Amino acid sequence: MKERNKTLGEFIIEKQEDFKYSSGELSRLINSIRLAAKVVNYKVNKAGLVDIIGKFGEQNIQGEDQQKLDVYANEVFMQTLVNREIVCGIASEENDDFITIQGNDGLHNNKYVVLIDPLDGSSNIDVNVSVGTIFSVYRRVTPIGSPVTLEDFLQPGDHQVAAGYVIYGTSTMLVYTTGNGVNGFTLNPAIGTFYLSHPNLKFPKDGNIYSINEGNYVHFPQGVKDYIKYCQLEEEDRPYTSRYIGSLVSDIHRNMIKGGIYIYPTSSKAPNGKLRLLYECNPMAFIAEQAGGKASDGFGRIMDIVPTELHQRVPFFCGSYNMVVKAEEFMTKASEK
Ligand code: AHG
Ligand code: MN
Ligand code: MN
Repeated sequence: MKERNKTLGEFIIEKQEDFKYSSGELSRLINSIRLAAKVVNYKVNKAGLVDIIGKFGEQNIQGEDQQKLDVYANEVFMQTLVNREIVCGIASEENDDFITIQGNDGLHNNKYVVLIDPLDGSSNIDVNVSVGTIFSVYRRVTPIGSPVTLEDFLQPGDHQVAAGYVIYGTSTMLVYTTGNGVNGFTLNPAIGTFYLSHPNLKFPKDGNIYSINEGNYVHFPQGVKDYIKYCQLEEEDRPYTSRYIGSLVSDIHRNMIKGGIYIYPTSSKAPNGKLRLLYECNPMAFIAEQAGGKASDGFGRIMDIVPTELHQRVPFFCGSYNMVVKAEEFMTKASEK
């Protein structure tokens, strides 16, 4: 009989046994993300049937219209983590400030903080296109027992202990890393169980997909314009193919499987880029590096950046290793002119 795939629950227990002296907090944390992902998945799949499509009527801290599902997903992830008292603090793209969590005993004894983009690509919900959730986990730097402070959240991506995303696509997947490679699990919706479907995911070293919102071309820095022209040149394996969904999670997921580069550069309209360092770029960078890919701001490693604010934005170049190296070369060349 063919052995069935491991479930995510089994996988988490197996990995927990690898860390002999750990308290199991990280395992419980991933478990609660698994639960919240299933709840959000259920709702995402009903979009169109129940009243969750469209705008919520308010803007988030970044002045962006919140969709109803943004607000719902934010509540589900926050509530799940708060109820289970597994983390000492959470920061969300949808909230102005981080929150501190204390246990029933009134103490702040947990050691992890979570940063989350509860619903990524939310403008795609109304048109039935894949959306996602992105999460990032750090060990707190302030002493256990005291309430968390901003310092616990403003750590370079290099300090992440876990990161992952959920993609609510043609099937729903949870992909995550704890620094030992990347594994992907697919949800069987009939029984609500995630199964290991993509063990040890790896970015192909080279690829032939480039993903960028080319509508903004005139506003791009010269290095990005030059790199786009390079992608379009008829030579060797080029021109590359252009694919852009407008959902970071889906664009990166596709490129990790097929080989490609994702770029959200600075532009004259968005001088720091659009994507958020803490909720989007760092977790995706951790996954990319763990999968043999590369993540850069055009000149240096994303995970080396020391954040100065919660909702900080950065330009983002992420994907197949050699493609990101090539894009960086164009950026450097153009900046030297
Ligand atoms: P969010 O829905 O969390 O605000 O993120 C949207 C992001 C990202 O998912 C996507 O890659 C990018 O915005 C698309 O931006 P453009 O529409 O400017 O291309
Ligand atoms: Mn997002
Ligand atoms: Mn979002």
